[in-house]
Amino acid sequence: MYIEYILTMSPVKPAKQARRATPGKGKVVMSTLAEAIRNHHQSLAKTLRAHARAVGGGESQTERDAFVAFLKGDLLPHARGEERHLYSTVDKLVREHGKPTATMMVDHEFINDYVTKIELIAHRLKSASENERARLLSELRDLSLRLDGIFELHLSKEERVYLPLIEKHLDETRQRQVLEAIHESYEEEKKMQLDQPLDVRTVVPRERHTLIFDTYTGLKPGEAFILVNDHDPRPLYYQFEAEHTGQFSWDYLEQGPEVWRVRIGRRGAH
Ligand SMILES: [Fe+2]
Ligand SMILES: [Fe+2]
Repeated sequence: MYIEYILTMSPVKPAKQARRATPGKGKVVMSTLAEAIRNHHQSLAKTLRAHARAVGGGESQTERDAFVAFLKGDLLPHARGEERHLYSTVDKLVREHGKPTATMMVDHEFINDYVTKIELIAHRLKSASENERARLLSELRDLSLRLDGIFELHLSKEERVYLPLIEKHLDETRQRQVLEAIHESYEEEKKMQLDQPLDVRTVVPRERHTLIFDTYTGLKPGEAFILVNDHDPRPLYYQFEAEHTGQFSWDYLEQGPEVWRVRIGRRGAH
């Protein structure tokens, strides 16, 4: 029923996987369902973004009405369809084959990305021209608001779903142990995130790469360090690309002419 609902919303081509699969009926249905949901998500997200831009930029009442019509006529029905027909099936699958906190790790990954982007723009604003300033400031405002939304939702999930479970089912000793461990890692992380520059300017060139790769290898997933160098470390990027494909992040915080600062991170596992 749900799949029919989605199919009427956005026509779906048969999934590649489904076409390749030997006609085991279950397999075909599953990949078609996933494909249908992905397509519908994509179209909802695209429309939502377009409406958000349109209402943010203008004074048109027609735009506002169209936005509300989309939210009530498409976005909410999509969510309700999932609640009624998808989540109970997913609940069972997660219990059997999945990891319930995986969704929260995705939130953390997005939060991390937003922080990197905000850090980058805040840094660029220090030396931005008058022209660039307005664009960067509006980008910063946009990113901050989106992070605020994600964070609000994330906290609410933890507080409404996880904390009651802890309160109800975890004995006090165990609660205290977890709290202490969280506190310890919080303090460690704080140091790590705020001041972990690796300044290789005084290191002899032939030792720089080893030092940088050793520092990278010492990172836990989700951690990062700031590489400070006296020239563009681009060749190093290609070495990372070759040896740690898809596992690292690379963001310039400063690009010369005298100092280059790059935030090199290890992507979170999921
Ligand atoms: Fe959805
Ligand atoms: Fe969290």
